[in-house]
Amino acid sequence: MAPSSPLPASTATRPAFARWMGTTNQITRTFLAAGAIPGLINVAGGLPDPTIFPTERLAEFARRAVAEHPDEVLSYGPVEGLAALRDALARRFGSPALPLTRDNVLVTTSGMQGLDLIGKVLLEDGGLVAGQYPTYLGALDAWRPRAPSFRNLVLEAPGFDPFEAVAGAQFAYAVPNFSNPTGRMVDLATRRALVAAAHRTGTWLVEDDPYGTLHYDGAALPRLIELSAQAAPGEPYAGPVISMGTLSKEIAPGLRVGWVVAAPAMIEALTLAKQGSDLCTSGVTQRVALAAIESGLVDEIRPALVALYRSRRDALCAALSAHLSDWFDWEVPVGGMFVWAVAKDPALDTDALLPHALSAGICFSPSSVFDATGANRRGMRLNFTLNPPERLDEGMRRLATAVAALRRSRGGAA
Ligand SMILES: Cc1ncc(COP(=O)(O)O)c(C=O)c1O
Repeated sequence: MAPSSPLPASTATRPAFARWMGTTNQITRTFLAAGAIPGLINVAGGLPDPTIFPTERLAEFARRAVAEHPDEVLSYGPVEGLAALRDALARRFGSPALPLTRDNVLVTTSGMQGLDLIGKVLLEDGGLVAGQYPTYLGALDAWRPRAPSFRNLVLEAPGFDPFEAVAGAQFAYAVPNFSNPTGRMVDLATRRALVAAAHRTGTWLVEDDPYGTLHYDGAALPRLIELSAQAAPGEPYAGPVISMGTLSKEIAPGLRVGWVVAAPAMIEALTLAKQGSDLCTSGVTQRVALAAIESGLVDEIRPALVALYRSRRDALCAALSAHLSDWFDWEVPVGGMFVWAVAKDPALDTDALLPHALSAGICFSPSSVFDATGANRRGMRLNFTLNPPERLDEGMRRLATAVAALRRSRGGAA
């Protein structure tokens, strides 16, 4: 997708920035602003349904954070995050086989900052990233200033060779649980193989897991960092996996609280990078996050969240069947927030479809934005968590209208 709004000439003419802008896109801005467009049905973003935010409990946690810890939360805090929250996260993700302490944990201003810091610490200008393909567009955005090259890892492809895949890269990147954008879950054998390859080649392996708890069918699989710890069970973690998470999807993105769990030396490096980024994450939201974890709120609201989102996944897939099955194929995801739909006709260009979709009152994310080269123009990512079933049905009906309009504009061809 080409950028849609021109920058002031003075900014755009700085060569490095102009190059970077020439390769980026405006889809995130578009879908974050889409709520303000009357009547538009937005299935473009990974947006939770605001009606499930536990607002009263969070308001009470925020009030208590300021009333009970004013000096701590209203001052600058430690760059690496509040010790109590780091301890709570170490307990949440640790186990006897993976003993973690606060030295293994960095609190971040949500998942996006974790991705940005990883780029700052690990990526040389023009360096190589081995990324699960298609790739989360926020990760591409975060690393674009380094003008990296990308090796696309299609983890489910027959004959996928994990050693060839990660060797020589500055780091490898995967979203093993319900990937953004495809919703796919990486199977256990591939998880093991990726971890073994990272250990053997000494390549850092970034595991990005915002969606792991939004799991609708089947059993959970171990995180990459848990598999990595099996190399030295019970020892302090010193392996190559950098495991990231966020409260954005299971509580509320407005908290902007996430974390990185990794070997202490990597946490130190990321902390130095964070110092030059935002000094520290808000103490108020860190205290709210801590209370949400320690009070059990996160676990309490999960069953309702999972039930609601499962029913919406089913509603979106039913709507696709009703309106778009002549044009698209898709897989039913077992978790997460997205259905990935691929055009049956390779000539159906979803970049070209998007303006017709916006005119018809529906916004989706085209596949080009999940490809560092922008070349993949045959798919689209559809979110099912934000809208109730009747809106999802109406949205897919509008999308079918948009496909018809695109075909008409091309004289009957896709
Ligand atoms: C794979 C992935 N990583 C990271 C993020 C960043 O989320 P946040 O910055 O809200 O934690 C997202 C958000 O959609 C995501 O899908």
